[in-house]
Amino acid sequence: MNKYKILLGGSLVAIVAMGVLANSISGKQEERTIINSTPVIKEKGIESRNEEWAKYFPRQYDSWKQTKQNDTIDDMIEKKPQLAILWAGYGFAKDYNAPRGHFYAVQSNINSLRTGAPVGPDTGPMPTACWTCKSPDVPRVMDEEGENEFFTGKWARLGDQIVNPIGCGDCHDSQTTNLTITRPHLKRALEASGTKLDEITHQEMRSLVCAQCHVEYYFKKTEYKDKAGKDQVAAVVTLPWAEGLNVEGIEKYYDSYGFSDWTHKISKTPMLKAQHPGYELYKTGIHARRGVACADCHMPYVREGAVKYSDHHIANPLDNIANTCLTCHRESEEEFKAVVKRKFERKEQLMELAMNSLGKAHLEAGRAWEAGASEAEMADIQQLIRSGQWMWDYAIASHGSFYHAPEETLRILSVANDKGQEARVKLVAVLAKHNVFDYVAPDFSTKEKAQEIAGVPLQELVDEKLEFKKTLLEEWNQKAVAGGRLNMEPRKGMSDKSSYAK
Ligand code: HEC
Ligand code: HEC
Ligand code: HEC
Ligand code: HEC
Repeated sequence: MNKYKILLGGSLVAIVAMGVLANSISGKQEERTIINSTPVIKEKGIESRNEEWAKYFPRQYDSWKQTKQNDTIDDMIEKKPQLAILWAGYGFAKDYNAPRGHFYAVQSNINSLRTGAPVGPDTGPMPTACWTCKSPDVPRVMDEEGENEFFTGKWARLGDQIVNPIGCGDCHDSQTTNLTITRPHLKRALEASGTKLDEITHQEMRSLVCAQCHVEYYFKKTEYKDKAGKDQVAAVVTLPWAEGLNVEGIEKYYDSYGFSDWTHKISKTPMLKAQHPGYELYKTGIHARRGVACADCHMPYVREGAVKYSDHHIANPLDNIANTCLTCHRESEEEFKAVVKRKFERKEQLMELAMNSLGKAHLEAGRAWEAGASEAEMADIQQLIRSGQWMWDYAIASHGSFYHAPEETLRILSVANDKGQEARVKLVAVLAKHNVFDYVAPDFSTKEKAQEIAGVPLQELVDEKLEFKKTLLEEWNQKAVAGGRLNMEPRKGMSDKSSYAK
C-alpha cells in the first residue's frame, strides 16, 4: 500500500514535471523568435562589455547585475583546515573560497593569493590559463590573438585585457544573440567524447553554456610556432573526457598520461587536483537524466507584466523556490528546503571522514620518508593517496554536487575514505619496519596550525598582494579604461573582499 503510494507520487511528479518542461520549452520558442529580430551587438568578433548588451536587453542585464549581491567570502580553509594539509605544496593551500556571484569572477581571481603578486607581464606563479573562466574578454582575446597565443605566457600578461566579469559574451553570440559555446576546449571535449556539435539541442545548450566553465580541466602543454615562426609552448585548458565523463574515466585518462598537477610537499605523492566537475557530476543525477537543464533551476523564467524573460541572477535556486523547484514539483517550500539540507548534511559527514583519513595519511607518509622508507615501500601507498584524494576532491569541488547528484557524490566519498584508510593501514606496517611505533599526526584543526604544517607563509603572501593591488593592478585598470575595454561605472559601490580582508 505504502509502496504503491510512493510510486504513484513519484510518477505524478514526473508527469507534472514533464508537462511543465514541455510548456516552458515551447514558451522559449516564442521568445527566441523575438530575439532573432534584435539588433546585432557587434558586427564582427565578440562584444565583451556587458554594458553594450544592456542597451538592447535591459532586463537581462539588470538581473545579471544582481549577481553583485553575493559578495560573501566563505573562507573554506578556515572552515575546513584539513584542506591546507591535503593541498600542501600547491596554490590552493594558500587561499580557497566558496564561489560568489558571477559579477565578482575577475575580482576573486585577482584577490586570490593563488595568483600571487606579479610586478610585470612576465612574472608571477600562474599562466594565462587562469583567466579562462572569468570573463567574456577571454573569447575576445582568443578571437583576436589565436587560442594558442592566448594560452601563452604568464597570467599578468593579460591583466589589462581581462577586465569584464562573466557576462553576455560568454554565453551569447555577439552577432545573433543565440546561445553559443565560446570556449574551444568544450567543443573539442564534446567531440572527443562522441557528441556531434551540429546535433546539440537547444535544451542541451541551456546546460552546455555553463559547462564551458563548471567542468574538470587541466592545462595541457602544447608546442606551436607563433606568427613570427618562433617555437612557443602554450598551457591550453583541456577537458579530460576522452575515457568517459565520470570520476573513474577521468582518473584513467590522467593516469594514462602519467599526469600530475603537483608533488605533495609532505607525502611526496604526485597528485591530481580536481577543479570543479559540476557538469560531469550533474550528468549522473536524476534531473539531468530527465532532461532538466542547469538554466531550468538557476535561471528560471520571470514575468514582468506581459514580458517573460530568463532571470540572469544566477545564484542559489532555493532563494527563489517558487520560480525554480516549485514550477515542476508540488511539495511545500519547507519540505523542499529540508530535502536539500539533508543532502548537504550527508555529504558533509562523509567528506569530513575522507579529509581526515587522507590528511593523516599524508602526514604519516611524511614521517615514513623521514624514517628512511624506500620508494618501493611507498609506491602502493602513494597510489592510494593519489586516487583517494582525487575522488574526494572530485566529489566536493563543484560545491552543488550534494544536490546535483547526491548518490554519486556519496559513493565517491566512500571510496575516497576507504582508500585513505587503506593507505594508513599500510603505513602502520612501513613505519613499524623503520622502528616508528608511536607516531601521531600533529593537530591540524585550525587554519593557522594547518597552514603552518603545510609551510604557507601567509603574511608574506598577503603583504605582496596588497602591494600589487596598489601598483600593477591600478595600471591594468587605467590601461583598460583608456583602451575602451572597461567601464568603471558598474563597479561603483562594489565591495573588495578577500579571505584576508573580509
Ligand atoms: C552563463 C550564461 C549566460 C550569461 C552570462 C548570459 N546569458 Fe542570457 N541567457 C542564457 C540562457 C541559458 C538563456 C535562456 C535561453 C533560451 O532558453 O532560449 C538566456 C536568455 C537570454 C535572452 C533571451 C530572452 C530570455 O530572457 O530568455 C536574452 C535577450 C539574453 N539572454 C541576454 C543576455 C544579456 C544581455 C546578458 C548579459 C548581461 C546575458 N544574457 C548573459 C545564458 C546566459
Ligand atoms: C565563463 C565561465 C562561467 C560560465 C559560462 C558560468 N559560470 Fe558559474 N561561475 C563561474 C565562476 C568563476 C564562479 C565563481 C565566481 C567568484 O567566486 O567570484 C561561478 C559561480 C557560480 C555560482 C555561485 C553563485 C553564488 O552566488 O554563490 C553558481 C550557482 C553558478 N556559477 C552557476 C552557473 C550556471 C547555472 C551557469 C550557466 C547558466 C554558469 N554558472 C555559467 C564561472 C562560470
Ligand atoms: C534541479 C535543479 C538544479 C539543476 C538542474 C542544477 N542545479 Fe546547481 N544547484 C541547485 C541547488 C538546489 C543547489 C544548492 C544551493 C545551495 O544550497 O547553496 C545548487 C548549487 C550549485 C552551485 C554551488 C553554489 C554555491 O554557492 O555553492 C553551482 C556552482 C551550481 N549549482 C551550478 C550548476 C550547474 C553548472 C548546473 C548544470 C550543469 C546545475 N547547477 C544544475 C539546483 C540545481
Ligand atoms: C524542469 C522541471 C524540474 C525542476 C525545475 C526541478 N525538478 Fe526536481 N525533478 C524533476 C524530475 C522530472 C524529477 C524526476 C522524477 C522521477 O523520475 O521520479 C525530479 C526529481 C527530484 C527529486 C527526487 C530525486 C532525488 O535525487 O532525490 C528531488 C529531491 C528533486 N527533484 C528536488 C528538486 C529541487 C530542490 C528543485 C529546485 C532547486 C528541483 N527539483 C527542480 C523535475 C524538476
